[in-house]
Order: sequence, then structure tokens, then C-alpha cells
Amino acid sequence: HADEPLAVVIFGATGDLTSRKLFPALYRLFRYHGLPENFLVVGASRSDLTHEAFRERMREALREHGEKHMDGWDEMARRVFYCPVADFGLAEAYGPLADFLDAKDRELSLGGNRLFYLAVPPEAYEDIARGLGASGLSRETLPGRSFSRIVVEKPFGSDLETAKALDATLHESFREHQIFRIDHYLAKETVQNVIMLRFANSIFEPLWNRNYVASVHITAAESLGVEHRAGYYEKAGVLRDMFQNHMMQLLALSAMEPPSIFEGERVRDEKTKLYRSLKPFPLDRLDDHLVLGQYGAGEIDGKKVVAYVDEPGVAKDSRIPTLASLKVFVDNWRWQGVPFHLVSGKRLRAKRTEIAVQFKEVPCSMFRHILGDHISANRLVLGIQPREEITLSFQTKTPGPKMCLRTVRMNFDYGQGYTGPALDAYEKVLIDCMLGDHTLFWRQDGVELCWSFLTPILNECEMKERLFVYPAGSDGPERMARLLERREIPRA
Ligand code: BG6
Repeated sequence: HADEPLAVVIFGATGDLTSRKLFPALYRLFRYHGLPENFLVVGASRSDLTHEAFRERMREALREHGEKHMDGWDEMARRVFYCPVADFGLAEAYGPLADFLDAKDRELSLGGNRLFYLAVPPEAYEDIARGLGASGLSRETLPGRSFSRIVVEKPFGSDLETAKALDATLHESFREHQIFRIDHYLAKETVQNVIMLRFANSIFEPLWNRNYVASVHITAAESLGVEHRAGYYEKAGVLRDMFQNHMMQLLALSAMEPPSIFEGERVRDEKTKLYRSLKPFPLDRLDDHLVLGQYGAGEIDGKKVVAYVDEPGVAKDSRIPTLASLKVFVDNWRWQGVPFHLVSGKRLRAKRTEIAVQFKEVPCSMFRHILGDHISANRLVLGIQPREEITLSFQTKTPGPKMCLRTVRMNFDYGQGYTGPALDAYEKVLIDCMLGDHTLFWRQDGVELCWSFLTPILNECEMKERLFVYPAGSDGPERMARLLERREIPRA
């Protein structure tokens, strides 16, 4: 629960992210009393809308996105306003917004607190940050007593250089504590739980290292295609869209050392250490480390879907990968020699995000004379979505007179374990920005280290490596399956 009064200003208020995610999240927070008593939402965009017309759009957006409880709407609508910013690149265009916020501050005693959420295409980030600076809106008027925060979503640049340039521009008008770089994966309950599972239990961590772990598999498979985002995706591709952010965060949470305390800077220090330990990608030995793919035509849930190159807005000869499989090594004592397989792709058989820890086999099988030499090794799977669960596979004796082993699964299902309300990722992100808690946000050093790791792959391979076409609705290219095939698992 955030209790300091504030104005949430959404740039890109007429866009898709606002209607699909942000406004519904604000509304739900309002209904559950998660917002301060004294708050308002100000939509800001280039369109010339009245307050009333904007409210009407937001009401429609709630309906369209399945909000069933409209009983809080009249109360919410009184706090919703609109202020056009005719040209994001012109400092003068921010004058009316500044005047409007000042007037509301005086009228409603908002204490000068402002949260600027950039729900706009990344090309507009720098203009808006400069505009907020030039119009004085980025200033924290009473140091330590009022705040002005800016929230940006990935992509943070499109390579190392552009990421640095974006950061320099943000810093012309804002100081680091005012900047929130979102990765919505970090706000997922099951992603946060990785850190709880590892560091709030004593039985997993002693095994969580090269002595017992054979490999770690981080997968974010999607059945969705590129949808209506070809303009963006044709420039991004899967490595920028999923790896530079979500996959790197999942890797950090799975592999980092425990921070001394669960606090924003300390958690991010540990992630930074981990990113610094990533072994540079072996550009001269790619075959065993990288597979890039692009979806062809196929079927998802019984419906025919077109190939990536036939999606609206995609070039017929596009070489943008929609799938990547990377084998990554962490060069430190804990993880020396343990491969981390990171796989993400669109138009795969089903949506499934998970972290699977493959343990080594037992040192020696005492059942070898009856059952052969190999006993299936243990595997711990942290299901992130859509199944939110933790599953541990292990061996048991099959009941009966004969000596037979079989693999069984011990399963914890979040849905059955908890019945209380859970915050959706955007609700959590918004609350943390209001509270000024940076724990679940990127820090610039992490952003830059991940770009340093990925930029050579982007420059050297993305357009040059073989692109394997896989049928939509499949498990990805053959080649990837072969690489990921369960190789012999080492013994502990
Ligand atoms: C976004 C990517 O960041 O994450 C999308 O831009 C992708 O391409 C999405 O579909 C996946 O998010 P989630 O929460 O549905 O797994």
C-alpha cells in the first residue's frame, strides 16, 4: 500500500500499453485500496482530448480487457484527467502539463509528488526526459520531501552504445534514484519466488552449485507470434526482445550469490557481479553454443497461422530470429563448467516459462547388477507460467516383489497453496515505483553488462548465422532439440 499523495502521469495515454496493462492495474489497485487517498492519474499524449473523452476511453479499456467490477469506476473517474502535450520534442509543449500539475497540487495537496510513466515507443524516451527536465517537472521541489520519478520500459537502447546514450540523456534531467527501469518479469510472483526458494530454505542452496548441478535450463516459450508489433520486432528480434532483459534476469536470479540483505542496491550488486562473470560468447565455436530460428507457417491450437515473413509489416526476406537457444557459462567458483541453456521463441507449441535445474547422477549405482548402470538424475523445475508450481523428480521403488525404480514427482502448486489475492506484474511495478523501492528494477550497470555480453552476438551472428525455420506450433528447430538432447549427465 502506497500512502504518499501523488500524480501519476502516463505518456502515451492513448496507446496500447495504457489500455491493456497500466490503466487496468491502476484501477484494480484503487479498488483494493492499494493507492494513496490523494492521487490522480493524468493522461498525456499528442491527441487533443477532453478529460471526459479520456475517461470514456479508459472506461471502455477496462471493459474490453475483462474488468468485471465497475463499482469503483465513478469514484476513480473523478481522479482521471487528460492534458495534451502537442509535441514531445518541444520544451514549450510541456508548459500546460506543468501548469495543470501545479494547479492540482495546490487544490488537492499532492505534495509535489509525481510519477511519469513512459508508455510510448522507445524513440520518444529521450525527448520526453529532456522535456520534463526543461519544464522543471523532473525537479524534486522539496529535497527529500517530494519526489519526481520517471519510469521507462525495456528496450533500454538497442545495443551497448545506444543504451549508454539513453542513460546519459535520462541523467541530464533525473538523478539515478529518480529512474525506474522496468522488467515486468521481475514483478511476477513466481520469478520473485526463485530468490525465496533459494535463500529462505537451507536444503537447496548446499546443492546449488557445480558439485551437484549438471546443467540449468531457462526456457521462455510462447505460442503467440509477432502480433501487431512487426515495426518494433523487425528491429529487435528475439535477442533484444527477450534475452537482453527477461532471460538475463532469470539467469541472474538462478545463479547469483545471496545478498547480505534483501534490499535494492544489495540485490542489484549481486546481479552485477554475476553479469560480470559471464564467459564471453565463443564466436569462433558457435555450433555448439547458439541456434537461431524463425517460425514458418504451421498450426497453433488447431488453427493455421502464417510464417513470420508473411506477417503484416514483416519484410518477405526478413532474417530476424524469432527463436534463440544460447549455451552460456558463468565463470566463477560456484558454476565453473555448468552450462546454462537459455531458450526463448515465439510460435512454439505452448506458452511455458520455467527454470529447470538438472542435478547430476548418483556417484555409483548399487542397483547396477539388477537395473543397469544409470539411474535417472533428480530434476527441480520452477514453473513460472502458465503453471505456477515447483516440481522435484526423484526415484522411488515401484511397489511389488521385483526391484524396480520409477521416477515420481513431488509437486507444489501455487494455486492450491495460496488463496489470497495476488498482485499482477504491473500492479506490483506501480506500487514499487510509488514506494520508491528499486529492488525489482534494472540498474544501469547491469543493463550495460548484459549489452556487452550480447552485442557481439548481435553484431557477429544475428544476420550471418544460419537461421533455422521451424513450423509454428512445434518445439523449435530440430537442430536445437539435438543440442539440448539429454546428454550423458555427469555423476556427483
Ligand atoms: C515482452 C516482449 O517483453 O514480453 C514480448 O516484448 C513477449 O515479445 C512478452 O511476448 C512475454 O511476456 P509474458 O509476461 O507474456 O511472458
